Amino acid sequence: MKFADRYTSLPPYLFAGLERKAAQLKAQGVDIIHLGIGDPDLPPPDFFVAALHRHLADPDAHLYPTSQGDPLVRKSIAQWFAGRFGVDLDPDREICVLIGAKEGLANFSRIVANPGDRVACPDPAYPVYAQGGALLNDAVPVFLPLDPDKGFLPDLQQAEGCRLVFLNYPNNPTGATAPESFFQSVADFTESHPETVMVHDAAYSEMTFGGYQAPSILQYTRQAVEFHSMSKLFNATGYRIGFAAGNPELIAALAALKAQLDSGAPVFIQRAMADGLARYEGATPPPEVRANLAEYERRRLLVEEKLEALGWRVLHSQATFYVWAKVGDDEMAVVESAMAKGVILTPGRGFGKSGQGYVRLALSQPYERLEEAMGRLKII
Ligand SMILES: Cc1ncc(COP(=O)(O)O)c(C=O)c1O
Repeated sequence: MKFADRYTSLPPYLFAGLERKAAQLKAQGVDIIHLGIGDPDLPPPDFFVAALHRHLADPDAHLYPTSQGDPLVRKSIAQWFAGRFGVDLDPDREICVLIGAKEGLANFSRIVANPGDRVACPDPAYPVYAQGGALLNDAVPVFLPLDPDKGFLPDLQQAEGCRLVFLNYPNNPTGATAPESFFQSVADFTESHPETVMVHDAAYSEMTFGGYQAPSILQYTRQAVEFHSMSKLFNATGYRIGFAAGNPELIAALAALKAQLDSGAPVFIQRAMADGLARYEGATPPPEVRANLAEYERRRLLVEEKLEALGWRVLHSQATFYVWAKVGDDEMAVVESAMAKGVILTPGRGFGKSGQGYVRLALSQPYERLEEAMGRLKII
């Protein structure tokens, strides 16, 4: 079969290969502890499941949704945003509901980048920016290394001349958070580079602990678009729901693009998101979410401590359920040995060249299984 260049230019999807190997080992009877993929093991909160059931019975639940999302849902998102970040959004002009953040992030480049335009992507990063976002839209990814000695923050000067810049804090895969001064420098860059569109992926903004709350880029500049996801907030990765917020021209273009590509997220799922967000009290998440976060924090402390005892250099983080650990120069050997013990780790190079020498562990297994995994890693 002859495929288009934009398709053949894609590197193999790393997670698919990992999944295949894990399945083979499982079939051989190996007890697999999968720390490879960030899919929550904890169930969605009862209130979220109840809202899904409730709205499934709405008389219009079976109809085509609108591309930009249910107007009342957008109103609820605006109320949440004001309480959570102190940012007032116009629900009709500054919010677009998405079928998960991934869909929006991957599609967004099409509305601003022409073939050959440069799109800045962090390195290491969630692969969708460079692949779904840049390559599949005939744009050229430019990688901004995230230097551990600089807090895993990019040097924005390297984004000079780019049409689009992807940023992501709290960060996958490193778990890094960005200080206010960084967001301020992003706002300054945006101001002095009107030709560059700033995209902030805030998919992990609600997965924070120890008193830390992640800011929104829209607190610093309104010339950006920010992507939010309910996947980790409500342990609801399979429901595919999120939203984009920010610059009205870009939001209108995103909604117009989506009208050509999809028919929006199912109405009952949108409404469950709205009901879930309405449970926040100002910036404080509902108790069920706080309990999840406390569990992730407990797991993180365990894993950070045990990995450090192995001599791995670990970023101590107050956000995300990823632990990013420096294991030496060649992480593939470590990944292979861990896999032989039934522990699946993600090699850092799957997130970009700068990920070489690192592994990522997703804390998406019960505490006892993580203890077991840490015990197995001790003897690789
Ligand atoms: C950084 C980042 N952004 C976005 C997403 C996707 O979010 P959603 O499930 O809403 O598509 C993920 C999922 O792993 C992610 O790690």
